[in-house]
Amino acid sequence: MNNKYTLSLGFAIALSTYASTIHAAYSIDTELRSLISQHNLSGDPSRGRVIPNINSPKAQLGMRLFFNKALGGNKDTACVSCHHPLLGGGDDLALSIGIGAVNPDLLGSGRLQLSGHPNVPRNAPTTFNMSLWDAAIFWDGRIESLAKQPGMNGSVGGIRTPNTSLGVSDPQAGANLVAAQAKFPVTSHAEMRGDLAGTMANTYVWTHLAGRLGGFGEGAGELPQPEYWLNLFKQVYGTPTSQAEQVITTQNVFDAIGEYERSQTFTHNPWQAYIRGNTQALSESAKRGALLFYKPYQQGGGNCVACHKGDTFTDEKFYNLAMPQLGKGERGGADNTHDYGRGNETKLYADRFTFRTPSLLNVEGTKPYSHAGAYYTLEAVIQHHLDPAWAVANYQPNRVKAENPGIQTETMQKNTFEALYKLREDQQKGLNPLRTARLSKTSIEDLANFLRALTDPCIKSATCLAPWLPPLHEDPNGLQLEAQFKF
Ligand code: HEC
Ligand code: HEC
Repeated sequence: MNNKYTLSLGFAIALSTYASTIHAAYSIDTELRSLISQHNLSGDPSRGRVIPNINSPKAQLGMRLFFNKALGGNKDTACVSCHHPLLGGGDDLALSIGIGAVNPDLLGSGRLQLSGHPNVPRNAPTTFNMSLWDAAIFWDGRIESLAKQPGMNGSVGGIRTPNTSLGVSDPQAGANLVAAQAKFPVTSHAEMRGDLAGTMANTYVWTHLAGRLGGFGEGAGELPQPEYWLNLFKQVYGTPTSQAEQVITTQNVFDAIGEYERSQTFTHNPWQAYIRGNTQALSESAKRGALLFYKPYQQGGGNCVACHKGDTFTDEKFYNLAMPQLGKGERGGADNTHDYGRGNETKLYADRFTFRTPSLLNVEGTKPYSHAGAYYTLEAVIQHHLDPAWAVANYQPNRVKAENPGIQTETMQKNTFEALYKLREDQQKGLNPLRTARLSKTSIEDLANFLRALTDPCIKSATCLAPWLPPLHEDPNGLQLEAQFKF
């Protein structure tokens, strides 16, 4: 064989490999772009929304309240105890630990409860991107917009809260879903309330806490320097001569916290860049994952878009996926250990074990996953979706137990099998679009890589997140939570 021939053969092979690579890349991008337009995606979930700036006075006040243990009944818990920006807006635990932590300032993995048991029954979702929800907040949607108008964050048409019955607007709910939600953690004994005010009604707790901050009413004298809060509130809600009672009101406290949360909007991710035209923004694996995400089962896809819809990746509706039921449950069933999810709210059998579809934006940063934090990897939670019966039969709570000592698992199997049984019923009745799908290990990795392309790089950078952390040791009362991490 002469050299000339070898060279030209090599050239021909190289040329054809190059051509087929170009062809594959061309067709995957073409297919993806057609799915993007079919699903009407803009890549900008915050389009048309009013997002507060973290440097606005209200968000700044809200940030200081969010980080302050003065809002914990026993002064040992703050919102940030379970929702730290450096932990993706969550707590890195399967089930949250509120009051009675061994070290109240130690957050994330390593946070332990004095009693040994995490006493909060659910996994803490992230507080990032709360500005993007229009229908329902919490796993069971117990804070609910009655109008569900797209783009409004629940600011029109009334909001139902746990203070009112299903479908009934709470006149005190506040400006939007986020402000409405913020009032409730301080009323939960396990999360923040502790021993404050025995079994008195929620309004009593709120008034007491406002009084504690401002040094009036039932809370008078509980903080050495109430003028710290008075000055901050006056800058946002009053005039230099305002009295504490006028500006440190229940509504204002939770309005400010809500604005801080709404300022935590992180949506600039590679997927957005891809949709806007940068074809290089996604890896080949992430592109294959995107196809699987949007393709129906019949075309070999994972049909994820049936529920994780639109630019926010959620339809804000409720489904039973029979995710493992770890922990003490939410008072459901004969032995009170079940978590019926949405069924707790509607009291309907059809809603039993259903939970709100989570958004998948920044999901890479909010492990562990599912309403009880059963899964530590994206691959495992995706695998569960593809074959819940297999996943439940093979579920091992080893890592959950190692990272959350004392977590209750005794009733897990029995309760999860009940949810699985009901999932079959839901599917037969057409209530649940989930189907068993056999995807290869590579396809599951591709799907996970697509989900990783939904991460805003800001949430992984302490420097980028710095504006969302208050200056150290600012509170003269010493109650600002300065987080310690075990890493
Ligand atoms: C002890 C840990 C803990 C503390 C403290 C805590 N949370 Fe949460 N948070 C949770 C858990 C667990 C859930 C899920 C509860 C559920 O859905 O039933 C949650 C849910 C939320 C949600 C709903 C997110 C969503 O996607 O639906 C928001 C918003 C939130 N918390 C904000 C706050 C604010 C504001 C505070 C302080 C006033 C606070 N949390 C204090 C653990 C905590
Ligand atoms: C039938 C509606 C539905 C379909 C289809 C669906 N999901 Fe989900 N997804 C949910 C619900 C509901 C949850 C929460 C369930 C729970 O915790 O009990 C969830 C949870 C998740 C989570 C964990 C998020 C978190 O914050 O805990 C990920 C990741 C996820 N889904 C990805 C996918 C992918 C990828 C697909 C396609 C293979 C998919 N989902 C298909 C409804 C759906």
